[in-house]
Amino acid sequence: MTAPKWWQQAVIYEIAAASFQDSDGDGRGDLSGLLQRLDHLAWLGVDALWLTPVQPSPFRDFGYDISDFCAIDPSLGTIEQFDQLVTELHRRDMHLILDFVPNHTAAEHPWFVESRASRASTRRNWYVWADPGEDGGPPNNWLSRFGGSAWAWDDTTGQYYYHSFLEEQPDLNWRNPAVREAMADVLRFWLRRGVDGFRVDASAVLIEDDLLRDDPPDPDADETLPPPQRLRRIFTDDRRESLECLEELRAVVEEFDDRMLAGEVQGKVDRIGHFYEGKRPRFHLPLNFALLDTPWDALSLQANIDAYLNSIPENAWPCWVIGGHDKHRIASKIGQTGARLMAMLALTLRGTPFLFAGDELGMEQAPVVAGRIDDPFEKLVPGYGLNRDPERAPIRWDEGPHGSFSIAEPWLPQDDRTRNVASLKGDDRSILHLCCSLIALRKQEPALTQGDQEPLRARNDILAFRRRHGGESIVVLLNLSREPRRWLAMESGKVLLSSHLDRKTGLPVDPPLLLRGQEGLIIKSGR
Ligand code: GLC
Ligand code: MG
Repeated sequence: MTAPKWWQQAVIYEIAAASFQDSDGDGRGDLSGLLQRLDHLAWLGVDALWLTPVQPSPFRDFGYDISDFCAIDPSLGTIEQFDQLVTELHRRDMHLILDFVPNHTAAEHPWFVESRASRASTRRNWYVWADPGEDGGPPNNWLSRFGGSAWAWDDTTGQYYYHSFLEEQPDLNWRNPAVREAMADVLRFWLRRGVDGFRVDASAVLIEDDLLRDDPPDPDADETLPPPQRLRRIFTDDRRESLECLEELRAVVEEFDDRMLAGEVQGKVDRIGHFYEGKRPRFHLPLNFALLDTPWDALSLQANIDAYLNSIPENAWPCWVIGGHDKHRIASKIGQTGARLMAMLALTLRGTPFLFAGDELGMEQAPVVAGRIDDPFEKLVPGYGLNRDPERAPIRWDEGPHGSFSIAEPWLPQDDRTRNVASLKGDDRSILHLCCSLIALRKQEPALTQGDQEPLRARNDILAFRRRHGGESIVVLLNLSREPRRWLAMESGKVLLSSHLDRKTGLPVDPPLLLRGQEGLIIKSGR
């Protein structure tokens, strides 16, 4: 057996720098603010930070519209501060993962400026250009995820260009080897600066059908779904050609020691295995959102956890996401006590957990009134609950004005005053202390990080599984009901942790075990 890799043991913590800590009083977080908070993150125990894009951007899409892949946006800081971040993290034995946005650039990117300048431009085929369709309109029926046709008309050169997302986010042409090489060099630029890995954005939409065939309507979709989701996107999304590009990205990352590639993938659980490997390896960790997308009850969770674990290749390493910049906050969906169970679940399942900054505080969807909407998704496809601003709200660090996130009005409204780091730190039974204890327990009990996972049959609203490693056995029991529930099928053991944080560690327990409403228990077998 080979020793586990850092990213197999790590708890990965996603940060949007703009929402973490402002240092220069412009109401947006920045790298220097983040640097000031590293000791807190070391205290929390997270092992790796994943930063959403920090490159120069007009910020029409939260920085996912990049105008220079190899620099830092001035509103966030400087490349020197970035290098300092890498050094400071490594000094604390922490890792840094960067977002990598290969599918598109900002319209302001010099590549696109050149590409649209003339049909004869040497960068013309760096983007996806096409002549009008027969009726003089867009070349086909492809829809942007952010609403409307995915084709934008360019007057100067008399052609359409393709954009999976915003019109101001033109898609790069990944069929062009020059684009692939340029993007490989972007990876190398950051790898040489010491970055430990990447999260690849929108990895399933790099290449579209070369015959530009229409996507058929999805017969299962009705008006409750936003228009872009009413097509079966078979000619635009999740094509074999795109998956092969991921093999090239992986090969670049392999030029360096011990780096990791995670990826935003798409499709149901039956597709996730393909993102691990094809002819050659693809991602180390295709992001798995099953815990967020599954109804919050023991049987549904059991079914979906098992389905996921069974659908990934034999030697693949699992991962579990409980929050992210595109996902509504879990505490708003399942409540504060539910969020504690979710933390216990994600931090004890076999695989790498991904948290979004604020999940450890039980942050909820912040109220964003109409006049303050920033997210283009909500502006362009309104009325479907798609706004992602509420989960992107800046952190509150204490009770002070703006939670001491900034001395100025934050760029987005914030969550409830009481959910701030200082007051949760002062309450030793808070969700923050629970997350901290769970992370510490992972470091202390190899069964939780390296152990096999054995499903136990959910009973009585209790989701249960066992982790085993080198003769040790740990059972995790999560009572999803609000009422007390009994668990009979268990040998004697001792308590390692209760999600209520009020049971003594080491306390002996014997069957039958009584779990209180929405209590999770981690029990070590034997005395
Ligand atoms: C990914 C990002 C999302 C962004 C989109 C376009 O899905 O996670 O936030 O809007 O790509 O770049
Ligand atoms: Mg700032």
